[in-house]
Amino acid sequence: MRPSPASPTAPSPSRWATELYGLLPLPQLGEGQERQPVSDLPAYCGPENAMTEAEQDLLPSGRRRISSLEMLDIAKQFPGVLANDHVYFDVRSGEVHALLGENGAGKSTLMRILYGLYQPSSGQIKLNGQPVEIRRPSDSIRLGIGMIHQHFMLVPSLTVAENVALGLPSSQGPLTDLRKVSRRILELAELYGLQVDPDVPVWQLAVGEQQRVEIVKALYRGAALLILDEPTAVLTPQEVDELFITLRKMAREGHALVFISHKLHEVLDISDRITVLRDGRVVGSKPTADTSKAELARMMVGRELAAPGERTAGGAGSVRLDLQGISALSDRGTVALRGVDLQVRAGEILGLAGVSGNGQRELAEVITGLRPATGGQVLLGGEDLTGATPGQIMDRGLAYIPEERNRDGMIRDFTVSENLILREHGKQPYARAGFLSFRAIERICAELVRSFNVKTPSLETPMKNLSGGNVQKVILARELSRRPEVLIAAQPARGLDIGAAEYVHQRLLEQRNAGTATLLISEDLDEILALSDRIAVIYEGQIMGEVSRESATAEQLGLLMAGVGAEGKARGARS
Ligand SMILES: Nc1ncnc2c1ncn2[C@@H]1O[C@H](COP(=O)(O)OP(=O)(O)OP(=O)(O)O)[C@@H](O)[C@H]1O
Ligand SMILES: [Mg+2]
Repeated sequence: MRPSPASPTAPSPSRWATELYGLLPLPQLGEGQERQPVSDLPAYCGPENAMTEAEQDLLPSGRRRISSLEMLDIAKQFPGVLANDHVYFDVRSGEVHALLGENGAGKSTLMRILYGLYQPSSGQIKLNGQPVEIRRPSDSIRLGIGMIHQHFMLVPSLTVAENVALGLPSSQGPLTDLRKVSRRILELAELYGLQVDPDVPVWQLAVGEQQRVEIVKALYRGAALLILDEPTAVLTPQEVDELFITLRKMAREGHALVFISHKLHEVLDISDRITVLRDGRVVGSKPTADTSKAELARMMVGRELAAPGERTAGGAGSVRLDLQGISALSDRGTVALRGVDLQVRAGEILGLAGVSGNGQRELAEVITGLRPATGGQVLLGGEDLTGATPGQIMDRGLAYIPEERNRDGMIRDFTVSENLILREHGKQPYARAGFLSFRAIERICAELVRSFNVKTPSLETPMKNLSGGNVQKVILARELSRRPEVLIAAQPARGLDIGAAEYVHQRLLEQRNAGTATLLISEDLDEILALSDRIAVIYEGQIMGEVSRESATAEQLGLLMAGVGAEGKARGARS
């Protein structure tokens, strides 16, 4: 890292921060704890020196706390983008500091700098008041910094213990004592109230469980400061509650936490302070108690959000998608779908609510030809397409927004425009008589990038350089612009900032009004209730019930999602 040259007249960073952002009250400490002034704290030292420090300075894991971490005047220039524009950010022991901002605002970049994955173009990082050099993740791990990424980094075929031990210097060679690793995992799990089984292979774990493994892995490596980059995007509401219990406990015990999310209610719920980034710059930083959803939205987007789009009366069209008794197996070979009957008509949105892992992914894959059905039929516009290839099905006018967009929806090394025309490049207007029409491609792609507000330096930028939310926008732009007859949209707003989510919802309503039959698969009840004409609930591979938009309530849907049927009895569908 290249520190910026010291200037004798420049105010000290902490005074500079105080003047810029106002004096921020320190977060609450537990009873009987006293906060030391930052300047009086000794420089960071590893666990080997920890015994010489006061007991209260230790975390349950045995590591020393990080009293304060400051990022001073951080800039990061990528080709064509200033991703971080002289950012000040700090986090202290005992608090959750949330980082908010639109897609591409620079949140992940700032945190990757802190974790040593990127080098800043300029700026300085101070830990407990002392400048530190973070050149690579091993440096940040040594300093007590851990990170849970936007996309998990576990190896599915290895066990939890093997994943935790992976890459540690102590676990290289054939002498890794996995029993010792397992024992320590169980110890940490107990200390932090996390349920983790060290001996299970990771592929058998639900997403929420995998995330717990990531947290234990970071604690195992001695994280006193934990960065969580959109940890809730892939979690069910219940898993979010469990994660928050863990995070609160960690903060109470003295960890410093950075939390990134696009969901304002989560940020207001879990954080002590909030910093908002826009176009790489800090727009503001506030104690959570002193702000509101409306103010945060304004700070992030720079405008008020529009009201939801117009809806005309719908549902009167003919049946476009007809699922008759669909059954299918999961990847693990267990029964995932048990005789699913659903009809979606032209001009309506059928919301499929349910806790993830109840067959939604398998259902979308059967419809789109990516997974064989073990029973039943898929009719598209009256034509039986059971067993047809994905290409044949897409050619009949079906568009698909997959849940795992990074895996199933794009090619990372292709450019933005190549990804935009991925499905249609052989057809008019992109190609004529077998030749690509580059003028048409560029014009149409530029228009899509503009209308979906995709933040990218150019159409030729590889997809892998886009921020998480902007990748989502490219896939949405491609699928929605095909003006499909039938649209399967799985978690369409996941990972999008509030402005982009609002735009996508408007587009879904527009398409519905124009006659598209849409199956909206979502775990977000607010999204389901806002967009659907009818709502079906899936539980353990079966449809638990169907309700109209007018009569649906969140409580009723919640009960159906938990497997409690109309008769008030829990359904034991598992055979
Ligand atoms: N490796 C890279 N190479 C080039 N540009 C990059 C790279 N990583 C990020 N960028 C650019 O930096 C900017 C900030 O991206 P970043 O991932 O930090 O955004 P973000 O705030 O995390 O957004 P999101 O909410 O979508 O995850 C974006 O314009 C992005 O395209
Ligand atoms: Mg990001």
